[in-house]
Amino acid sequence: MDVGEAILRRRSVRRFDRSRGVPRELVMRVLDAARFAPSSCNLQTWDFVVVEDAALKQRLSEQTKSVLVAPVNVFVVYDRELAKEGLANVQSASAAIMTMLLKATSLGLASLWVNAIGDHDRVRELLGVPAEYDVLALVCLGYAADAEPPPAPERRPLDEVTHVDRFVSGGQLPRSPDPDAWTLEQIGTYLKRKLQSGTRFNKADPRFVAGVIEAVKTALPGAGEDGTPVLDVLPGTGVFTEALAKAWPRARLAVLESTAENHFFANRRSGNHVAFVPWPAEARAAILARCAPPGAKVQIARESGGLVVMPRILPYPELAEPPFHAATCLFRLEALPSAWRPRLLADVFAQLARGAPFALAFTSRRSWHGPAYALRRRLGRDSVEVAPTPDPNVIGPYEALAPGVVRDLVRAAGFAIRGESALFPLPDVERLRPRVLAAKGAARVLGRVFLVLAAALRPFESLLRPFARIRVLHLVRP
Ligand SMILES: Cc1cc2nc3c(=O)[nH]c(=O)nc-3n(C[C@H](O)[C@H](O)[C@H](O)COP(=O)(O)O)c2cc1C
Repeated sequence: MDVGEAILRRRSVRRFDRSRGVPRELVMRVLDAARFAPSSCNLQTWDFVVVEDAALKQRLSEQTKSVLVAPVNVFVVYDRELAKEGLANVQSASAAIMTMLLKATSLGLASLWVNAIGDHDRVRELLGVPAEYDVLALVCLGYAADAEPPPAPERRPLDEVTHVDRFVSGGQLPRSPDPDAWTLEQIGTYLKRKLQSGTRFNKADPRFVAGVIEAVKTALPGAGEDGTPVLDVLPGTGVFTEALAKAWPRARLAVLESTAENHFFANRRSGNHVAFVPWPAEARAAILARCAPPGAKVQIARESGGLVVMPRILPYPELAEPPFHAATCLFRLEALPSAWRPRLLADVFAQLARGAPFALAFTSRRSWHGPAYALRRRLGRDSVEVAPTPDPNVIGPYEALAPGVVRDLVRAAGFAIRGESALFPLPDVERLRPRVLAAKGAARVLGRVFLVLAAALRPFESLLRPFARIRVLHLVRP
């Protein structure tokens, strides 16, 4: 296989054939190739630790579950003290990893580059790596479980990533997590880019989703009945649309979205029966222009292990028209620029039949979310990637809202408030722990204090409802 073919063939594989080991000789050929990667001043500031011992693997799995995924695990470590100017040591070790992946591909092996390895210091200790080294990443190797490789996630076009002489601005998105720093279009583009890598969005926190869906069911009596038209407003990654489709298999679901790609993604993950309401109405033609004409045949990329890559041209969607007999809007109001919030609520109002219920979930600013977010900002972790959202699937610019402000907004749009559910007054300690352990310095210390506090308050959880992080308003269109 020539190098060009290996570059195109290499895929991040996340399902390995666990029963099929890799001959040591092949592993050594992969590591041998890595030695020939370029390195700063040819210092070759890398080392490769292959994990073979089952007990060690088990201990490492407390830091990263990825070690259990593939038969061969190679931790790539680098000398922190040498070639540190301009992160040359990290650059060199990264070149070694890339060389490993290409060599593995050429040998018919599947591979995965894993950055999420938990507490780097703990991994370093477990591997007996000296203190002046850092663990950079884990490389998983093995044979793929599926005969077909996963489809290639879409790449940004060449002309967009290439600049001649001068960096041409325009295509970039804001970095701020503040929704008011974004336009509606930019938010749609951000989400579209995130969705291109498919699998990363199939990991909903089941406890969180189940809690929200229970509250939604209470807020929307009758929505699950035969043929009831239900509108899910701005589903984003479609985590909740998928859960609603499961909870109400007989309802007729539609989503209101601002891009055809986001509808496509939410529809695919929800069983392909979800119709589309392009929003806002004045952008309808532009949104649908991304789709092939009605009835045209569109080649849809293969599906593999739950991953669907979006085709460049989308199939024409099934469009839905009002009135809807129920609606949900789950954690999207706070992901919109504030000027669009009244407009969204007014448009949902207009789509609903008289007497139709509407469940509106949002993250309350009057909860631990507020201080946690402020803390992260102070620690400089203030980019859109690290916005502490209620669920990792809710991504992009995002701000928790004051319950009073949301109530005023829905009343101004004409809705009546019939009730409210308050969920998750305390954070899920188990879920947060790995993130805290992976943090460094002050963030880690404060994170630990936060976890201890959260665990200590657990017996008083029901008393803390007024400070619940998640609120679900039970609304009705009169
Ligand atoms: C620095 C780096 C870190 C990564 N970390 C992870 C990871 O922790 N877990 C994971 O499943 N994939 C990880 N990946 C794989 C990427 O998700 C993958 O390369 C990307 O989605 C493109 O897919 P492809 O490799 O099949 O082309 C990582 C890749 C790189 C380069």
